[in-house]
Amino acid sequence: MMCVKLWLVVMFSFVQAGCGGSCPALECWLLRDKPGEVLKHERSLIHVITPGSSPAEEQQAEPSSFSSSSSVESPEKVYYVTDGSASLCHSSLHPPRGSLIKPQCELHPFFPHPADVKWATALTDNALSPAHLQADWLSAAILGVNGELVLSTVMQAATASSLSNGIVEMKLVLSVLSRTALVRSRLGEPVLLDCGFWVDPSSPLSASGFAVEWRYQFRGAGRLVLAYDGKADRLADGPQEGATLDFADLHATGNASLALQEAQAHHSGTYICTVYMPYLVAQVSLELEVVEPPSLSISPSPLPLAVSGQVLRVQCEASGFVPLPLELSWEFRRADGAVEALGEGSLSGHREAWDGTYIQSSRLALDTSTLGGGGELVCVAHHDGGTRRSRVALDVIGFSTPTIEDSMAMVGVALVLYGIIKLAFWKIAGSDEVSPKEKDQ
Ligand SMILES: *[C@@H]1O[C@H](CO)[C@@H](O)[C@H](O)[C@H]1NC(C)=O
Repeated sequence: MMCVKLWLVVMFSFVQAGCGGSCPALECWLLRDKPGEVLKHERSLIHVITPGSSPAEEQQAEPSSFSSSSSVESPEKVYYVTDGSASLCHSSLHPPRGSLIKPQCELHPFFPHPADVKWATALTDNALSPAHLQADWLSAAILGVNGELVLSTVMQAATASSLSNGIVEMKLVLSVLSRTALVRSRLGEPVLLDCGFWVDPSSPLSASGFAVEWRYQFRGAGRLVLAYDGKADRLADGPQEGATLDFADLHATGNASLALQEAQAHHSGTYICTVYMPYLVAQVSLELEVVEPPSLSISPSPLPLAVSGQVLRVQCEASGFVPLPLELSWEFRRADGAVEALGEGSLSGHREAWDGTYIQSSRLALDTSTLGGGGELVCVAHHDGGTRRSRVALDVIGFSTPTIEDSMAMVGVALVLYGIIKLAFWKIAGSDEVSPKEKDQ
């Protein structure tokens, strides 16, 4: 059915692609920045043609096709894109019908140009730009739902492409994608930042080499992590800090994933995977979040025996966590299991440790008069990486309904006090020669 439609719309050009499979159309915005004009947003629709797929797949894909479900009323531009990489048919770009979250897709005019980074200059050694670049080019930046895909593609318009009524036939030439737009890692774990690229094997560019670059960006500052000249098979000088690529896999399958030996706090940030082909470039960016919940320690530990009514000063220190913020609070768990919230105490500011993790503490002045015979004092930390609790036993003596142990302890204390008073009295009596009787007179 889709086939027939395609044949009718673009009658002459699909012989090569055959009548392959298709997936639902993709809604995009074409952003055009003409000098002296405001940025123009044009509604566009991309129909994907995957040359290799079978008619059976095509039928499965058909029901949610644009003709019935698309919210793009009268798109200004319609593209028929032959996608040999099948990345435009990824499920995260085609959420179920009626889904509120939509993939995002932006198209920009693209102008082939030699790369200006030194690990990619060899790709365009002969200065003349080849004739096959003479065409209209577009780049697409696409974000799938749930962060399952970030995709950046470069497409070339087929010659004699501009058909009437805004329909253009294009071919995907370079596609760079990552299946992990957001990566979370615990401290010290190995991290894999997924990135892969695909080049149309029928393009003359495919045999001319490539270069891969990974950059890191955090709060406006950026640095190179790793750069690889695939043509010369050479890694650019620079800091790699335990970051590696699998070069065999890179050449064989375009797997440009960056492996970090172990995640450290200062690894959190944005990573940009850029792939250079001669005159073409595409990049995707990923976020790495290194998340580590705190370790807690309460001091003093163990707590001293408290007399009811005494104010006990306790501190809970949370350390080794990343990132900020952290919520610290206190709880008291009675012997019968009832839990009472004691608030957050007085929080310190955070300090940064040598490894980039944070330290923060809370002090609590605990009025023991309401705590019965004691129980457990709990320090609670709520953090992005999880909730942590640390407990310490608290015994309170001298409150209204004492336990047998408390009574015995109180009797003990009373006896000791009695002894001290008695001793003091004897001392006073012994050192004072004047008897009470004489004093009275
Ligand atoms: C890419 O290579 C990494 C190892 O560097 C591997 O763990 C990963 O599974 C590979 N990805 C694909 C899609 O093959």
